[in-house]
Amino acid sequence: MKRRNFIKTGLMGTAAISMAPTALLSRQDCNVTNNDILGPYWAENHPYRAILANIDEPGTRIHIAGTVKANDCETPIQNAIVDVWHANDDGCYTIFQECDSGNTDEDPYNLRGQMLTNENGEYAFESIWPGYYPGRPRHFHYKIKTPENLELVTQCYFLIDPEVDDSWIANHLGLVIPLEEGIDGLYGTFDIVMDEDGSQVSSDEHQSLIPQEPYLKNNYPNPFNNSTQIEFGITKLEYVSISVYDVSGKWIINIVDKKMLPGTHKLRWNGKNSLGNHVPSGNYLLVMRSGSLIRSRKILYLK
Ligand SMILES: [Fe+2]
Repeated sequence: MKRRNFIKTGLMGTAAISMAPTALLSRQDCNVTNNDILGPYWAENHPYRAILANIDEPGTRIHIAGTVKANDCETPIQNAIVDVWHANDDGCYTIFQECDSGNTDEDPYNLRGQMLTNENGEYAFESIWPGYYPGRPRHFHYKIKTPENLELVTQCYFLIDPEVDDSWIANHLGLVIPLEEGIDGLYGTFDIVMDEDGSQVSSDEHQSLIPQEPYLKNNYPNPFNNSTQIEFGITKLEYVSISVYDVSGKWIINIVDKKMLPGTHKLRWNGKNSLGNHVPSGNYLLVMRSGSLIRSRKILYLK
């Protein structure tokens, strides 16, 4: 018998004689957390950290904490991955869009991070209050995955957001949270109840995240004038170097030069050389080396 089934069966066995009306009420109020759309801006490999926004990031600081629980709304789930990503104060998503923000150049994963729940199922993070983009209230995106491979994709909205009206609340039950003002910005609690009865179960996504063969995609955008995204994948833990050369073969910079985990990786090049100076407009060559693999792509930089 699975541990949670044991817990549920145990509770049901004593319910008839020991459960007070208030306890019954709270059990009736126990709902699994609703899912919500993933949206186009999730990325793999968000770094593990609890402070998602650089201290210089424009916006209102916000602190969110919560507990990931089993569907009895009581049993905490330890070591669940809580993956959070969100827009900056201007409604802009890093990696996918060019965003003016506190630290984009240094941190391509700005306003993105993963946490592991502790032994009490708790997670917490600090960031800035996500900004608006057309048609949507402020929101955090969440992707939660438990050690038993239950997965939930959802979002968290805010009661004090004037863009959240009654119909939004009705259509996003359990996903709209109150916020309070504290000494260092806003504070809120977003608890998550996983559905162990099936609707959130995902296939083993990790398998599909690891490509069958190593690859280097064409950079995007290309041509570019601010920064361009470089996506590549490797099939095993391996040393990877990706370097930029000019058309005469002169080395410009190493984008990456280290051992990396299997999977898909996304990096950016901002048109600067190893000394931090912008290179002239023109054609450049991106060269990836990993194990016996060598791949190259042409990049056009236009200032
Ligand atoms: Fe979004």
